[in-house]
Amino acid sequence: MSDRFEAPKGTFDYLPPEAGIRAVVEQRMLEQARLAGYERIETPVFEDTGLFARGVGEATDVVQKEMYTFTDKGGRSLTLRPELTAGVVRALIEHGRITAGVTKVAYTGPQFRYERPQAGRQRQFHQVGVEALGSQDPALDADVVLVGHEVFRELGAEVTLLLTSLGDAECRPAYRGRLLEFLHGLGDELPAQARARAELNPLRVLDMKDSRVQELTADAPLMRDALCPACRAHDERVRGLLAEAGIKWVEAPRLVRGLDYYVRTTFEWQAAGLDAAQNALGGGGRYDGLSEAVGGPPAPGVGWALGLDRVVLALGPAGRLPVDPYRLDVLVIPLGDRAGDTAFTLVRDLRRAGLVADLPYAERTLKGHMKAAAKAAAAAVVILGEAELAAGQVGIRDMAARDQQPVPLADAVRAVEAIVRPR
Ligand code: HAM
Repeated sequence: MSDRFEAPKGTFDYLPPEAGIRAVVEQRMLEQARLAGYERIETPVFEDTGLFARGVGEATDVVQKEMYTFTDKGGRSLTLRPELTAGVVRALIEHGRITAGVTKVAYTGPQFRYERPQAGRQRQFHQVGVEALGSQDPALDADVVLVGHEVFRELGAEVTLLLTSLGDAECRPAYRGRLLEFLHGLGDELPAQARARAELNPLRVLDMKDSRVQELTADAPLMRDALCPACRAHDERVRGLLAEAGIKWVEAPRLVRGLDYYVRTTFEWQAAGLDAAQNALGGGGRYDGLSEAVGGPPAPGVGWALGLDRVVLALGPAGRLPVDPYRLDVLVIPLGDRAGDTAFTLVRDLRRAGLVADLPYAERTLKGHMKAAAKAAAAAVVILGEAELAAGQVGIRDMAARDQQPVPLADAVRAVEAIVRPR
């Protein structure tokens, strides 16, 4: 047995600079939610196991195969949250926040699913999401989609919006029956895995990747063609608003998604250039009925969650990753003890000006210091030599331009700012 430890399978350590870049992407997502009136909410990382069984759906892969469930020392069955919608709805019910009117909340945090790890598919992953409860107005569905659209626009990510309607309690049961009949009609021709799925949730057979299943179900009845008048009107209004806002989508009549709570509007954003196993950057939909399923009052809702890990993965090859805001702007190098005092005050002043400024905390040759500054990708270096300091001067080097100038100590902050943030 090795005496060293590694991160558990399917989890990742995000180190600098990647962790800093992720934080910027996360912040940009949350900012679009804030601008649209979604207020921050935080809920526990673990919940009662029953919440997910009832909320997400007993028959889903998430609940059947992917939950991290454990019994605590008090004998309670708890589960690391595999998603956040159920927890958010639970919290809003518990604190009496489901009242007349619309409640809009946004969240960010880790989720846990015991999946087969591969690129973009992890056992701990991070989501940013929004939920809007309290209205059946199709404008709320459109609002939620608009926020996601603006996130991808801001990030410069190329995505395709897949959109469909999954009907509701009025029209889906009859459709489900017809689809099941169709699937039964295929008999043993349908692969065993699809037959098993059909019994749990026949709609999920339609989004299977297996080409044989796709061929056999090419003529299967589609929910889209079986919507009741109310669902159809809702769907048309959502699409009308999206079109009005210039948002494009692709019809996805076979889109089902892996969680059971969806009704009516259901959507997913897919990235160009990633494999099918990881190209869903985010998704969501309407979930009228979820509140009642977990013991709350009627509270129709709609929302989405974006996978931060996957979004960052998609931005990389597209050259759209933001700059790490934690990167060093300026290294202040004191040469000699007395220069050390001045250098310490200078980093204070540089930081007060909003620059990332630091000292080397090591004795090195000037050449060694410059190497360290280059390695840290600092934009500027301030050199405090004893002789120059005696004359009230410092040397300021623009690392990119490889240009060094003497500057009065009193002007050092301004001179560094001019290098770091050129106008
Ligand atoms: P979901 O589609 O299961 O929806 O997850 C949303 C996003 O989380 C996915 O599109 C993907 O980017 C990311 N994700 C999911 N599983 C993994 C994984 N194993 N590794 C990496 N990323 C992953 C939900 O969770 C719903 N709660 C969304 C929602 C909110 N619906 C309504 N409101």
